[in-house]
Amino acid sequence: MKVPDYALLLSGLLLAPVDASTCQTPIDHPGEPFSYVQPLNTTILSPYGHYPAGLPSPKTKGKGGWENALARAKNWTAQLTLEEKSWVATGQPGPCVGNVLPIPRLNFSGLCLQNGPQCLEQGDYSSVFVSSVSAAASWDRDLLYKRGYALATEHKAKGSHVILGPIGGPLGRSPYDGRTWEGFATDPYLTGICMEETILGMQDAGVQANAKHFIAYEQETQRNPTYAPDANATTYIQDSVSSNLDDRTLHEIYMWPFANAARARVASMMCSYNRVNGSHACQNSYLLNHLLKTELGFQGYVMSDWGATHSGVASIESGMDMTMPGGFTLYGELWTEGSFWGKNLTEAVNNGTVPIARLDDMIVRIMTPYFWLGQDTHYPSVDSSVGPLNVDSPPDTWLYPWKFTGSSNRDVRGNHSQMIRAHGAASTVLLKNERNALPLRKPRNIVIVGNDAGPVLQGASNPDEFEYGVLANSGGSGACRFSFLSTPLDAITSRARKDGAIVQHWLNNTQITGNSMPSLWNPEQPDVCLVFLKAWASEGSDRQYLELDWNGNAVVEAVVKYCGNTVVITHSAGANVLPFADHPNVTAILAAHYPGEEAGNAIADVLYGDVNPSAKLPYVIAYNESDYNAPLTTAVQTNGTYDWQSWFDEELEVGYRYFDAHDIPVRYEFGFGLSYTTFNLTNLTATTPVATNLTALPEHRPVQPGGNPTLWDTVYTLTAEVRNTGTVDGYAIPQLYVGYPDSAPAGTPPSQLRGFDKVWLAKGQTKQVTFELMRRDVSYWDVVAQDWRIPTGGFTFKAGFSSRDFRANVTAALLR
Ligand SMILES: *[C@@H]1O[C@H](CO)[C@@H](O)[C@H](O)[C@H]1NC(C)=O
Ligand SMILES: *[C@@H]1O[C@H](CO)[C@@H](O)[C@H](O)[C@H]1NC(C)=O
Ligand SMILES: *[C@@H]1O[C@H](CO)[C@@H](O)[C@H](O)[C@H]1NC(C)=O
Ligand SMILES: *[C@@H]1O[C@H](CO)[C@@H](O)[C@H](O)[C@H]1NC(C)=O
Ligand SMILES: *[C@@H]1O[C@H](CO)[C@@H](O)[C@H](O)[C@H]1NC(C)=O
Ligand SMILES: *[C@@H]1O[C@H](CO)[C@@H](O)[C@H](O)[C@H]1NC(C)=O
Ligand SMILES: *[C@@H]1O[C@H](CO)[C@@H](O)[C@H](O)[C@H]1NC(C)=O
Ligand SMILES: *[C@@H]1O[C@H](CO)[C@@H](O)[C@H](O)[C@H]1NC(C)=O
Ligand SMILES: *[C@@H]1O[C@H](CO)[C@@H](O)[C@H](O)[C@H]1NC(C)=O
Ligand SMILES: *[C@@H]1O[C@H](CO)[C@@H](O)[C@H](O)[C@H]1NC(C)=O
Ligand SMILES: *[C@@H]1O[C@H](CO)[C@@H](O)[C@H](O)[C@H]1NC(C)=O
Ligand SMILES: *[C@@H]1O[C@H](CO)[C@@H](O)[C@H](O)[C@H]1NC(C)=O
Repeated sequence: MKVPDYALLLSGLLLAPVDASTCQTPIDHPGEPFSYVQPLNTTILSPYGHYPAGLPSPKTKGKGGWENALARAKNWTAQLTLEEKSWVATGQPGPCVGNVLPIPRLNFSGLCLQNGPQCLEQGDYSSVFVSSVSAAASWDRDLLYKRGYALATEHKAKGSHVILGPIGGPLGRSPYDGRTWEGFATDPYLTGICMEETILGMQDAGVQANAKHFIAYEQETQRNPTYAPDANATTYIQDSVSSNLDDRTLHEIYMWPFANAARARVASMMCSYNRVNGSHACQNSYLLNHLLKTELGFQGYVMSDWGATHSGVASIESGMDMTMPGGFTLYGELWTEGSFWGKNLTEAVNNGTVPIARLDDMIVRIMTPYFWLGQDTHYPSVDSSVGPLNVDSPPDTWLYPWKFTGSSNRDVRGNHSQMIRAHGAASTVLLKNERNALPLRKPRNIVIVGNDAGPVLQGASNPDEFEYGVLANSGGSGACRFSFLSTPLDAITSRARKDGAIVQHWLNNTQITGNSMPSLWNPEQPDVCLVFLKAWASEGSDRQYLELDWNGNAVVEAVVKYCGNTVVITHSAGANVLPFADHPNVTAILAAHYPGEEAGNAIADVLYGDVNPSAKLPYVIAYNESDYNAPLTTAVQTNGTYDWQSWFDEELEVGYRYFDAHDIPVRYEFGFGLSYTTFNLTNLTATTPVATNLTALPEHRPVQPGGNPTLWDTVYTLTAEVRNTGTVDGYAIPQLYVGYPDSAPAGTPPSQLRGFDKVWLAKGQTKQVTFELMRRDVSYWDVVAQDWRIPTGGFTFKAGFSSRDFRANVTAALLR
């Protein structure tokens, strides 16, 4: 692995123009002296490295199929004035959440960047898809691709060039993180596949994807600095939280999904708000120049999160290519005019601080994906209706006279609702199903309970933690506007009418948890009580608890006293503790996450058995909140500027890896989910004889997007037979976990997901499934070699239906 040229660095040639805060700010960790100019010392890299500087910023070569687009981008860039270049790299207030100015002289109408991962945030007449955590729970590559593709067609029709998503971090190191639902799974392998499929889908539809947030962005609390209130909001009281982690954890957990994103040719990556090992992620040259642009071979551009830029020259030298929102700069909660870049960037080039070659590379990186995706020809104009919905830069803040062409209020939904309904059902995890509670068999007397079952009473724009209404999406930049929202109450009621059933509902949690329950279902005992509970989580703050909102546990307690067949359905951001799960009258539990606009129809399809559930948990449901590790850093006891430190001391023990390493019992494990049928898995067999010539370290082929291509070579293949042993047809999701040999370094998790498939099986049918393991899947990151190493000794390959339900094992050494 090529490391930065430290000789050059030490000579001062590269250092001179860089702001002293460029790469490192001191961090308060006893015994680890801070030094900015530090040669690579792998002992220091692990644990908790102060990364060495990674300078200079490497130029894109358009590798991996972008070569022609690169030539066009270079040509285009050559036609710009210096000032135009500065403004292509610097956002401006405008109709979209992020805007690059048009250059009419070159027929360039600018770039429109839009939120977010579940919808077009500023879009009327647009769809609300299933959330990312839902999509991950489907374990369905095809669903992930189609969701990304359909979402992107809507963005494109509204004129967005760039979708701000998908999200490879937060990964959910702590279940309290406010944005886990915007990301996928608490597992790098599954998240990596979700990233790859989503990006391929989005970009096949012609829209640039943006993989965010790079990196180790695992809490909302103190994600931005706090500023002195009466100064001009430039003096920190305390800087943003620093995620401090070792090099191996960075590679094997947090960077892993971004490698998949790079491999999928993602157009852009977003650097995150937090600091990483002491340095802001957006001015951390080791992260951006070395890891992202060199090791992972990322050829596109790095964009700041909104207001995550904290310097001019330093962030540019460190590898950031575009600052957002630019012309307006976010300081904590305050927006001020001006930017570290923009005019300042022009000045920095003119006075020799930033080499023009660096600025040229920034523009070429930005424009190559634009030409690659053909965004220069016949691209839809920005729909003027997005402007007034822009809360970040409303029309009265626009400095540039934006002109709109084309129709406004375009309806971009197509027939997506059908697909969203199917995706919602495919994403619903059945956690418990006893006494044949589900599927429902023409119940005649149904009671629907809970404030999550009915319509939203407060309008379409998702007020924070609203009391009444099904929670199908949540807040922050991932918030959506519903043009239509199917509620469980509607969907189940209309379904029940076909059976001639009576449906009673009781949606006021305050009253339910009072004393007035029994009168509701007199005179006869209901056949089934469907209790809808919800849990809100949103960007900007972290969750305070993992119980359901609005007194959810008490609602269940009130119902089970009287109702012997209680089915609980949750609409939630992610993990919840479910203290009622063992109650004998709770016969079934379903986790439906945030399923988007078809929430009601999707759950009705599952409850009535039109769809046989197949989704699996993409995280762990523990018995107690205190069972989870890696608590967030919620406060510091001291007032020092750099005192917010979050130590990722758990290292690789993230999510199920922690529970497994310590044999902690869990209520529902990672990968778990029931079906209305049953499956078994037999005959796990290695079909490739162990490659006799496999080497421990990979051959170094020229780096491509995704890194050394050798890492992606299949080195080991297993097959297994999966059989539907039950009485109805359905999808099985067989999973493969790898246990590394003892020769792997301490701290290697007992089981790590490295393969899965989703297969349709008619009752009684058997199919063979194949698990192809790539070199990366059977390697660990060797911090001394700075490379991926296959350990010697016997691996255990474990196949089954969850991280704790292995049905067959194979033990084999991969190296001779
Ligand atoms: C690397 O760092 C360790 C720990 O600080 C130190 O003991 C060692 O001497 C360093 N090695 C080199 C080559 O500088
Ligand atoms: C470069 O741009 C000019 C002006 O648009 C155009 O005439 C020329 O063909 C372009 N060259 C290449 C190699 O794309
Ligand atoms: C804030 O900005 C104003 C005008 O730009 C300037 O006069 C003033 O000195 C600044 N105050 C501080 C505390 O920096
Ligand atoms: C240049 O940067 C400074 C902060 O360093 C900022 O106050 C000023 O507004 C910027 N100028 C422009 C034109 O954006
Ligand atoms: C060059 O301009 C930049 C941006 O205004 C400024 O930060 C920097 O201090 C200037 N450097 C010199 C040597 O004038
Ligand atoms: C819910 O019930 C409580 C207690 O009776 C009452 O105060 C509240 O107004 C009710 N909410 C609605 C929307 O009816
Ligand atoms: C379960 O529900 C039945 C009514 O069907 C009720 O009689 C019984 O007390 C409930 N059990 C518990 C433990 O609450
Ligand atoms: C922190 O600040 C508070 C008030 O601003 C002050 O009372 C306290 O003494 C400070 N603590 C330390 C350790 O400096
Ligand atoms: C088990 O799988 C292997 C590899 O596909 C196959 O050759 C073998 O026939 C299978 N054995 C049984 C009993 O199905
Ligand atoms: C290893 O063997 C396979 C097939 O036998 C071959 O394709 C591959 O090139 C060999 N790799 C090396 C590094 O020799
Ligand atoms: C798998 O299912 C088949 C058919 O029901 C049965 O014959 C076989 O014994 C089962 N195998 C295991 C390991 O449960
Ligand atoms: C597979 O290996 C695991 C240990 O890693 C063990 O707990 C499990 O019982 C084994 N399962 C089978 C079917 O051999």
